[in-house]
Amino acid sequence: MVLEWDKYEALARQAVCEGVVLLKNEKEVLPIKKNEKISIFGRMQNNYYKSGTGSGGMVNVPKVWSIVEGLQAENICINEELHKIYEQFEEIHPFDPGVGFGNEPWSQVEMEVSEELVKKASDDSDTALVIIGRTAGEEQDYINDRGAYKLSENEADLLRKVRNAFDKVVLVMNVSAILDMKEIEEISPDAILYAWQGGEVGALGCVDVLIGKVCPSGRLADSIIRNIEDASAYGNFGDTVRNIYAEDIYVGYRYYETFNKSAVMYPFGYGLSYTSFDVTPGSTDLEKLDSLSINAEVTNTGNVAGKEVVQFYVSKPQGMLGKPALSLVGFLKTETLKPGEKCNLSIDIDPYTFASYDDSGVTGFEACYVLEAGNYTFYVGQNVRDIKEVGTYTQEETVIIEKLSHQMVPNVSFERIKPAANDNAFIISKEEVKALPFSDSDEAMADRPSAKDYTGDKGIKLKDVRDGKASMDDFLAQLSDEDLSVIIRGEGMGSPKVTPGTAAAFGGLSQNLKNFGIPAGCCSDGPSGMRLDSGFRAFSLPSGTLLACTWNEKLNTDLYSMLGMEMNKNNVDFLLGPGMNIHRFPLNGRNFEYFSEDPFVTGKIAAAQIRGLKKSGVSGTLKHFCGNNQETCRHTEENVISERALREIYLKGFEIAVKEAGADSVMTTYGPVNGIWTNSRHDLNTNILRKEWGFEGIVMTDWWSNIGDVGGVVDKTSFSRLVIAQNDFYAVCPDASVNSTGDDTLQALSEGLITRGQLARMAGNICRVLMNTNAMKRLCGEDYKVEVVGFEDELESDDLSDVEYFEVEDGTVIDLSQVDTTKGAVYFLGFDVKKRGCYYIDMIGHSDLSRLSQIPVGVFFQGVPCGSFTFHGGGEELSIRRKIFFHSKYGVMRLKFMNGGLDLKELKFTFQKAPEKDEPLENFEEYIC
Ligand code: BGC
Repeated sequence: MVLEWDKYEALARQAVCEGVVLLKNEKEVLPIKKNEKISIFGRMQNNYYKSGTGSGGMVNVPKVWSIVEGLQAENICINEELHKIYEQFEEIHPFDPGVGFGNEPWSQVEMEVSEELVKKASDDSDTALVIIGRTAGEEQDYINDRGAYKLSENEADLLRKVRNAFDKVVLVMNVSAILDMKEIEEISPDAILYAWQGGEVGALGCVDVLIGKVCPSGRLADSIIRNIEDASAYGNFGDTVRNIYAEDIYVGYRYYETFNKSAVMYPFGYGLSYTSFDVTPGSTDLEKLDSLSINAEVTNTGNVAGKEVVQFYVSKPQGMLGKPALSLVGFLKTETLKPGEKCNLSIDIDPYTFASYDDSGVTGFEACYVLEAGNYTFYVGQNVRDIKEVGTYTQEETVIIEKLSHQMVPNVSFERIKPAANDNAFIISKEEVKALPFSDSDEAMADRPSAKDYTGDKGIKLKDVRDGKASMDDFLAQLSDEDLSVIIRGEGMGSPKVTPGTAAAFGGLSQNLKNFGIPAGCCSDGPSGMRLDSGFRAFSLPSGTLLACTWNEKLNTDLYSMLGMEMNKNNVDFLLGPGMNIHRFPLNGRNFEYFSEDPFVTGKIAAAQIRGLKKSGVSGTLKHFCGNNQETCRHTEENVISERALREIYLKGFEIAVKEAGADSVMTTYGPVNGIWTNSRHDLNTNILRKEWGFEGIVMTDWWSNIGDVGGVVDKTSFSRLVIAQNDFYAVCPDASVNSTGDDTLQALSEGLITRGQLARMAGNICRVLMNTNAMKRLCGEDYKVEVVGFEDELESDDLSDVEYFEVEDGTVIDLSQVDTTKGAVYFLGFDVKKRGCYYIDMIGHSDLSRLSQIPVGVFFQGVPCGSFTFHGGGEELSIRRKIFFHSKYGVMRLKFMNGGLDLKELKFTFQKAPEKDEPLENFEEYIC
C-alpha cells in the first residue's frame, strides 16, 4: 500500500467541499465571480479553526491554511489595504490559544471597525466576506451568551456595519457547531456558508465552494432553530448532578417536526447548491415487509454540475407507543450530475430500521421492537421539509420485529413526552417512565463463564492461535492470575511501549505477557486525525460534524482508509474515534466530534469510517458508549434515559456501526447512565453490545474514569466492577506491569467476587483483537508497512545554539520552575552524564486546570521521539516517571509543551543500573527510546 500525501489532502479537501453547508444565497452572491474584488472582514481571516479543542483537536499539523491564503492561492482579488489592517490587528492582538485543556476561549477578540473603514472598503469592492470563528470542546460546553453560542458585541457590530454598507454580504462560519442564528438572520447577510471546521485544508475546501470550483452539496445533519429555548432538551441539559432526558426519543427534527415546526429556521437535511435538482419518487415495492424498496429519480435541473443528497423518511402510525412525525430511514448521495443529467437511486428498507421499541409493554409486546398496526408512509426528498410521498405499507396487526429483554432500565421514575393528537397536529402529553430496581446486578453476578485451569507455560504463543495451531482457551490457560490482572490494565498516556506520545497501550505490557507473544496495541486520539503528543506531525481531517454533512458514505470510507494508512505508518493500531454521541443539545462542547442529531446518519457515517480504517488494516474505537451528551461535570453527572430512548436514539448509531462495519473497539463514557457508571454496566457491555449485537471486540474505559454506582462506592480502582461488566481494560495506568494504582483485581479474585473465567474472557477479547493487528505483525517481524509518499515529518528548525547543559548522576535535580510552558513552547536540556546507564527520570509539576485536563509534554531524546510526560489538572503535585538510557556522555532532550497550564518544578534523576561489559543492549530495551 502507498499513501500519496497529495491525494490524501485532495480527498480531505473534497470532503470539505461536500460537507460545508450553504444555507442562504440570495441575489446569487455566491459563487464569487472571476474578477470580482472582495473585502474580507473578521480577524479569523488570518486564522482558521481546524477543529474543536481537547483530545479530538490536538493533531500536531505543519500548517493550517487560512481562508485568505486560500483565496490568494486561487488569485481572487482581495482588498489588500483592508487585509493589512487585519494583519496589523493580529500583531497587537495575536490569536489566543488559551491556557491548557478545556480552557480555550470560545472565540477570539474581534477587531472593532468604524463606519468609515467599512464605507471605504465598500467603495473599493462590491462584495464583503465576513468570517466568524468559534470553538469549544472537551471539558468545555458552550454557554448561551455573546462570544460563545451568540455573536460577540464586536462581531454583531461588524456584521451590521458591513450589511449597511455593502450590496453583497457573504457570511462564512468557521465553527465547531451550530451557533445562534437569530441575530444573524435579523442582520440578514445575503449568503451564509456553514464552513464548520475542516481540518488543516478546511479553508481550501471552503474557498473551492466560495469561488464555485465545486458546487456545494453539504446538507445539515442537524436542525437549526431560532431560539435555543425551543430545543427539546432545554431545561434538562447542563445540570451538574443529574439530567433527565424527558424529551425521550424526540431529539432534533423528531421533536420539531412533531410538535413545533415553527421553531425551525433551517430544517434537518437542508442545504443549497449552485444548481437545482428535481427528486421524484420512482417505482416502489411496498407490499411485503421483507422486501420493501423505494426508487427515486434525480435530475439536475440547473446550470452547473453538482451532487444531490436524496433522503428517505417514514411516518409511522401513532399506535400505543407514539411516534415522531418523521424518521429518516435511508439516504444516498448521487455522483456528480451534469446539467440535465438524471439518475435512479433505490434503497431496500429493513423493517428493523423503522421499528419502535416498547419499553413499557403498552403494545402487549414488552421489551420488543415492534411494528404497530397501521400505515407506514414513505417519502423521498431533499430535506425533512421538502419531501414527496412515495407510497404506503400497511401493517394489519402489530408484529414483533425483534424480541429482546429489558436492559439499562432507569432507576428513578420520570415523565417523558409523547404526542397526543389534537385536530391535525400533535401536542405534547406526558407519560411516566417507571423505575425498576437495578436490573443489572443479579444477572451480572450470575454471568461467570468457566475457564480452563491454569496450566503454566506450555509454549503456546498467540501467533499459534492466530495461525490455527492452538486454541485460545489453551493459550489463555497458560496465563497466571497475575498475568490476567496485568492484561486488563491499559497504559499511558505516552506509554513508551508503543508509538511515543499516544494515548494508550494495551495487551502485552509486561515481559511475561510479551513472552507469550502478546503484542502491545497502540491507541491514538481521534477522531479527526492522529494525536501524537511527541510533537510528531499528523494530518488533521475535517470534524465529525462536517463529515456527517457530506452524507457521503463512500467518501468517508475512502478518507478514513487514508487515515488508516497514516496510522499504519506511525504504528498506531486503533484510532480513538469516531465520536458517536448524539447532538442532543446545541451547547455540548464536543458536538464537533460527533455527527448528528439523528442516530441513523450517525451510525451510517461511523460505519463508513470504520470500514475505511479496516481496509487499511487498522481500526477505530466507537466512543463514548453511551449518553455522553455534555461536558459539564461529565465524569460524575448522571444521565437518566428511558430504555426506549437509549435503544432508538443513543445506542442506535453504535449498533449500526457494530452490525454493519464489524467495529471491534468501543470506549465507555466517564459518567453514569441510570445509576451506574457505563463501564460498570454488564447489561450495556455484555448483554446489549455482545449478546444482542454480536460484538467481538474490546471495550476500554475513558481515561482515568470513575467506576461504580451513583450513591455507592465510586473510585478508580474497583477493576472488579469492570471485570463483571466485561469492560475489557482500564485506560489508563502509569505502568501496567505493576499495580501502581492499587486496583482490586487480585484481591477480588481471591475473595471470589470475580472468577478466573471472567478475567480469561476479557483476556480472550483483548488477544482475539490484538492477534489480527499490525501490532501482532510488528511483534512477529511480518511485513505490513505502508509507504508514504510526499510527506516528510520534520521537526521545526530548532535553535540549539544556547542549550544549557546539566551534569547528571544519581540524585541530580534540575530546576524547571522558570521554563516557559505555554502551549507550543519548546525547551531543550543538555545532559553531561557523569555515570552512564539506566535512569528513572521523574518530571514534577502541577496544574491548576480541571482534574481531567490533559497536559502532555512531548519528549524527544537525541532526536528520537520517546514518549511524553502527561500531567493532569486538579492542583496537586504530580511526579511522572519515564525511563531513559544514557549510553553516551552527552545528550540533548527536547520538551514540547502541547498544552499550556502546567507549572513545572523539576526533573529528578535516579540511577538504576549500568550494562556490564559486553552486556547486550537488548537487556535494557525498556530504557531505550
Ligand atoms: C476523552 C476521550 C479521549 C481520551 C484520551 C478523554 O478525556 O474523553 O475521548 O479519547 O481522553 O485522550
